[in-house]
Amino acid sequence: MAFIIFFFLSLLQLSSRFNSEPTQDKKALIAFISQTPHSYRLKWNVSDSVCNWVGVQCDSTNSSVYSLRLPGVDLVGRVPPDSIGRLTQLRILSLRSNALTGQVPSDFSNLKFLRSLYLQNNRFSGEFPLSLTRLTRLNRLVLSSNNFNGTIPFAINNLTRLTGLFLENNTFSGEIPSITIKLVNFDVSNNRLNGSIPESLSKFPASSFAGNLDLCGGPLQPCEQNFPAPAPSPESTVPSSLVHQKSKKLSTGAIIGIVVGCVAGALLLLLLVLFCLRKRKRRQPPKSPKPVATAARSVPTAEAGTSSSKDEITGGSMESERNKLVFLEGGIYNFDLEDLLRASAEVLGKGSVGTSYKAVLEEGTTVVVKRLKDVVVTKKEFEMQIEILGKIKHENVVPLRAFYFSKDEKLLVYDYITSGSLSALLHGSRGSGRTPLGWENRRRIALGTARGVACLHVSGKVVHGNIKSSNILLRGPDNDASVSDFGLNPLFGNGGPSNRIAGYRAPEVLETRKMTTFKSDVYSFGVLLLELLTGKAPNQASLGEDGIDLPRWVQSVVREEWTAEVFDAELMRFHNIEEEMVQLLQIAMTCVSVVPDQRPSMQEVVHLIEGMNRGETDDGLRQSSDDPSKGSEGESRTPPRSTP
Ligand SMILES: *[C@@H]1O[C@H](CO)[C@@H](O)[C@H](O)[C@H]1NC(C)=O
Ligand SMILES: *[C@@H]1O[C@H](CO)[C@@H](O)[C@H](O)[C@H]1NC(C)=O
Ligand SMILES: *[C@@H]1O[C@H](CO)[C@@H](O)[C@H](O)[C@H]1NC(C)=O
Ligand SMILES: *[C@@H]1O[C@H](CO)[C@@H](O)[C@H](O)[C@H]1NC(C)=O
Ligand SMILES: *[C@@H]1O[C@H](CO)[C@@H](O)[C@H](O)[C@H]1NC(C)=O
Ligand SMILES: *[C@@H]1O[C@H](CO)[C@@H](O)[C@H](O)[C@H]1NC(C)=O
Repeated sequence: MAFIIFFFLSLLQLSSRFNSEPTQDKKALIAFISQTPHSYRLKWNVSDSVCNWVGVQCDSTNSSVYSLRLPGVDLVGRVPPDSIGRLTQLRILSLRSNALTGQVPSDFSNLKFLRSLYLQNNRFSGEFPLSLTRLTRLNRLVLSSNNFNGTIPFAINNLTRLTGLFLENNTFSGEIPSITIKLVNFDVSNNRLNGSIPESLSKFPASSFAGNLDLCGGPLQPCEQNFPAPAPSPESTVPSSLVHQKSKKLSTGAIIGIVVGCVAGALLLLLLVLFCLRKRKRRQPPKSPKPVATAARSVPTAEAGTSSSKDEITGGSMESERNKLVFLEGGIYNFDLEDLLRASAEVLGKGSVGTSYKAVLEEGTTVVVKRLKDVVVTKKEFEMQIEILGKIKHENVVPLRAFYFSKDEKLLVYDYITSGSLSALLHGSRGSGRTPLGWENRRRIALGTARGVACLHVSGKVVHGNIKSSNILLRGPDNDASVSDFGLNPLFGNGGPSNRIAGYRAPEVLETRKMTTFKSDVYSFGVLLLELLTGKAPNQASLGEDGIDLPRWVQSVVREEWTAEVFDAELMRFHNIEEEMVQLLQIAMTCVSVVPDQRPSMQEVVHLIEGMNRGETDDGLRQSSDDPSKGSEGESRTPPRSTP
C-alpha cells in the first residue's frame, strides 16, 4: 500500500515536473532568438521545455532560467531590448565570441542576480554600459575584445563583489579611475588609456596595462615629475600644486618602490610559472599550445577566483578568427575551442595517428577529440581532406563533427560512441565474467562494418586506410558497428602512419610502403573478418615482433579441420551456425588474396555477406540479416538451414 502511494506521489511529482518550466523566461528567450540571426547549430524547439534548450540551464526547481551560455553561435546584430533583460533570475550570461554589435541594452540592469557576464569577442560599441554598474552581485565582468570607447567609469566601484574585470582590446580612453574594490584579476591592456596608474591597481602586472596610449606608474615606468597624479575620484579634484609636491616627495620613495616592485614582479612571475605547471598537470589535454599559453596567463584567475568563476578561466583571451574550431555541416553541437579546452578529458587510446580523448563538456555533451601528430600537409590540403570526410554520412560511419588546425595543433572532433570498440569486446577480459560475443552479433558487426567501409569507398571516394578492430566502434544495445579513423592517411607523410601497423596490412602496402588503396582496405577488412571468426588478434606490434599472421595461419589449416581448429571457441556453443561461419571465412579468404585484383570490391563484399542468409527466410535478406530479435545471445538460433 505504502508502495502504491509512493508510486502515485512520484508520478504526480513527475507530471508536475514535466509541466513546470519558466514560461516568462521562455518568452524572453524566444523574443531574443527570433530577433537575432544565429547559427544553424542553435535550434531551440519551442514545443520543448526551455530547460532542455541548448545553452539554457534552469534552476533546480525549473522556475527560472539560471544560466544562458551562447558562445560562438554566430549571433549577429544588436541584443534586442526587452529580451535577455527580462531574465531577472539569471546568474550566468555568456554571449562571447559572436558578432553582436551596438550598445549593451540598458535593461541589463534588471539582471540583478547576475554573477558572471561574458561579452568578450563581439563588436559591442559605445561607452562602458552604466547599466552594468547596478549589478552589484557581479563577480566577473568580461568586456574584452569589443569596440567600447569612452572612459572607464568610477561607478565600477559600485560592484563591490567584483573580483575579475577584463576590459582589454577595446578603445577605452582617458585615465583609469581609482578602483578600490578588491580585484583579483584586472586587465585593461590594448586600449587608449593615458595618465598614471592608480595606487590601488599597481599590484597588477605590466601586461595588464600594456598597449595603451600613455600610461605610467605602478608596474610601468614611473610618471614624469610634473605629471598629474590620477584624480582619486571624479568628484574631488586635487589642486595641481599639491600634486607636484606629492610627486616630489614620492621621487625618493619611487626608487624603493621600483626595487620592491621588481622583486615582487619576479616573485609573481615565479608563482605564475608554478601555477601554470600545476594547472598543466591537472588539466588534461586536449589542449593546443596557443590557447594553453593564453589560458595559462590567467590561470591564477581561476585558482583565486570564486567557485562561480569556473566559466572562462581565460578571462576573455580569444583565439584569432582563423584559429577557430570549425564545425562541419549538419552538426548538432554548440561549443567552441574554449569549451573544449575546459572540458574534462580522459585518454581513450594512443593510436598511430595520435591520441584520442573523451571530452565531457560543461553542458554535458561528450565528444571524442583526436589530437593528430606528425601532420605534414598544409592547412589548405588539410581542410580539403576534412571537408571530404565531413560529408560522409552513414549509419555505420562515425561522423566527423569539427576540426581545429593551427601551426602547433591539429584536432578532430567526433561523436562519442558509447559501447567501446570491437577490439575491446573481442579481446577484453577473456575468461570468467566475460559475456561471450555470439555469432549473431559478430555477423551483424561484420555486415555493418562492410557497409560502412563500402560507403566510404563508393559515396565518399575515400580510402579508410586504417581498418582494425580498435577502429570499429559499437553503438547501442545491438552493437551496431561504426567505422572510425577513416581517410586520415593523406594528412601524413610516407604513405600514412598506419603503414607501420602489421597484421592488417596488405602485402603490397607492406612491401612498397605505398599509399593504402581501396583494395588494401579490402585486405584489411578480410583480416578483420578472420579476427571476428577466430577470436585471435592479428599481430599489431611493430615489425620484428612475432604475432599471428591470420591469413597465413588459416591457410595452413586444412579445410576439413576449420571448424575444430580455426573458429573461436566461444562460437562452439552456438549450434547450426557452422555453415555460415564457413561461408564468412571463405569471404574473408578472398578478401585477403595476395593479388589485389583478385580481391572483391567492398560493395561485392557487402552483397556476399548479405547473401549468406539467403534461403533461410522468405522475406528477403535485408530484414533477416538485420533483425536483432532473431538470434539473441546465449540461445541457440532459430532452425538451421539444411546444409546443401
Ligand atoms: C526540469 O526540467 C528538465 C527538462 O525538462 C527535466 O528533465 C527535469 O526533471 C525538471 N526538474 C524539475 C525539478 O522539475
Ligand atoms: C520538439 O519537441 C516536441 C516535444 O518535445 C517533439 O515532439 C518534437 O519532435 C520536437 N521537434 C523537433 C523538430 O525536434
Ligand atoms: C564612441 O564611439 C561612438 C561610435 O561607436 C562615437 O559615436 C562616439 O563619439 C565615441 N565616443 C568617444 C568618447 O570616443
Ligand atoms: C550604485 O548602486 C546603487 C544600488 O546599489 C545604485 O542605486 C546606483 O545608481 C549605482 N550607481 C551607479 C553610478 O550606477
Ligand atoms: C589623456 O588624453 C586626453 C585626450 O585624449 C587629454 O585630454 C588628457 O589631458 C590626457 N591626460 C593625461 C594625464 O595625459
Ligand atoms: C588582444 O589583442 C592582442 C593583440 O592584437 C592579442 O594578442 C590578444 O590575444 C587579444 N586578447 C584578447 C582577449 O582577445
